[in-house]
Amino acid sequence: MTRRTIVAMPGDGIGKVVLNETIRILNSAGFEADYVEGDIGWEFWCKEGNPLPKRTVELLKKHKIGLFGAITSKPKDDAANELAPALLNKGLVYSSPIVGLRQYFNLDICIRPCKTYKGNPLNFIRRGKGGVIEEPIVNVVIFRQNTEGLYGGVEWSNPDNIVYAALTSHPKFVKNFGSVPREDLSISTRIFTRTGTTRILMAAFEYAKKNGYKSVTLCEKPNVIRETSGMMFKLAQEIQKKKFPEIELWNTNIDAQMMWLTKNPENYGVIVAGNMFGDIVSDGFAGLIGGLGFACSAQMSDEGIAVFEPTHGSAPKYAGYSVSIVNPIAMVESACMMLEYLEEKETAARIRKAVAEVIEEGKVQTYDMMKMTGSADVLANGAASTQQMADVIIEKLKTKYSNNPDYEYKKNS
Ligand code: NAI
Ligand code: MG
Repeated sequence: MTRRTIVAMPGDGIGKVVLNETIRILNSAGFEADYVEGDIGWEFWCKEGNPLPKRTVELLKKHKIGLFGAITSKPKDDAANELAPALLNKGLVYSSPIVGLRQYFNLDICIRPCKTYKGNPLNFIRRGKGGVIEEPIVNVVIFRQNTEGLYGGVEWSNPDNIVYAALTSHPKFVKNFGSVPREDLSISTRIFTRTGTTRILMAAFEYAKKNGYKSVTLCEKPNVIRETSGMMFKLAQEIQKKKFPEIELWNTNIDAQMMWLTKNPENYGVIVAGNMFGDIVSDGFAGLIGGLGFACSAQMSDEGIAVFEPTHGSAPKYAGYSVSIVNPIAMVESACMMLEYLEEKETAARIRKAVAEVIEEGKVQTYDMMKMTGSADVLANGAASTQQMADVIIEKLKTKYSNNPDYEYKKNS
C-alpha cells in the first residue's frame, strides 16, 4: 500500500468532530496516510475575509484528494456583519467555500449512494398488502451534476441593463416580466452545458454498467423546463442508444419522483439529475435510509481531484457540545468512498462491514438512531456520543475485521 497524503478540511461546527473521528477509524483500519489540514469555512471568512484561502486550494492542487467535514454559510448581510473590524466595509462578499471548491476544481461529478443498512431503526417502512409492514431495501446511487444549473452562481437582484433588456427580447418574457420594475426583480439562472450534462450522464451509465444495474433513471422535468431538462433528456436518449443499449433509460419528473420514492423506492437503482434536482432527490432517498447521519458523497473532476464529504452541514446547534452527540457514519461512509476511489477496496470493505455490524447489533446508537430530539441530555438517556460510536467501529476493526495477519492467525488457531 502506498502512503497517501490527504487534505483534511474539517470546516465548521460538527464537521470538525466527524472528520476527526473518521481519521481515527481510517488509521485503525490500517489505511496508511498523512493528513494535512486545509483551512476552510466561517472562521477564515471572519478572520481573513475569505472562507476558502488560497493555501487550501494549493494544498488540494498538490495532493489531489480531500476529506471535507462541513461548513457554515450565512446570508450575505449577516456574513458581512461578522467580519473582523479591520475587514468591515471593504466590499467583501461571502460565498460558500464548498461551492467555490467544486467550481474551482470543476468537481462536476457528484455521487451520493443511499443504501439500507440492515437493522437500522431509521429504515423506511410502509404498509403493504393486507396491512403487512414492509421494509423495502433501498439501493440507490444518485449522480448529481455538481457545478452548473441553479447553483452555477449566474444570478442578479435589481439586474443591470443588459440583463433587464433580455426580458424584452421575447414576447413571452415581456408578458410575464417586462413591466416589473427592475428593483423588484431577482433572477437566478439555470444553465446546463452539453459538456457538463454529457459527463454526468456518462458517469451514471458507466456506473450502472459496471455494477450490473439494469436501468438509469433521469430525474428532471423536461415537459416544463424545456431547454435545460429537455437537453439532458435528449442527450440521455442518445447516449443510451449509442453506447449503453443493454441499459434501460427511465425518465421521471422530479416532483413525481419525490412521491414515488416512498411508494416504491426498491424500483430505483442509478438516478441522474442536474444540480438542484440531484440535491433534492438525494436528500429524499437519504431520508429512507436514516437521514443525514447516513448520507455520504463523493465529488470528482476529470483531472484526478476528488473531495469526499457527508451531505449534512455543520449543524451549528450541536457544534458547541463538550461531548459531541452527532452521528459520524455519514463521514465514515464518505471516507469509504475515498478508499474505493483510491483502489483501497479491501480496507473500505472492512470498514463498511464493521459499520454494518455495529448498526445491526444495535447496542451502540447515536441519538438520531434512537429517534431522540438532539440535546445534551441524550447521552444520559442511553445515546452514544460521536466518539463512542467511532470507538465501537474501531473495536470491530481491531478484532473481527483486522488487516493484521497475526490476529487472523491467532483467531483461527
Ligand atoms: P445541517 O445538515 O447542518 O443540519 C440539519 C439537522 O440535521 C441538524 O440540526 C441535525 O438535527 C441533523 N444532522 C445533521 N448532521 C447530523 C449528524 N451527523 N448526525 C445526526 N444528526 C445530524 O443543515 P442546516 O441546519 O440546514 O444547516 C446548518 C449549516 O450548515 C448552515 O450554515 C448551512 O449553510 C450549512 N450546510 C453546509 C453544507 C456543507 O458543508 N456541504 C451542507 C448543508 C448545509
Ligand atoms: Mg443538500
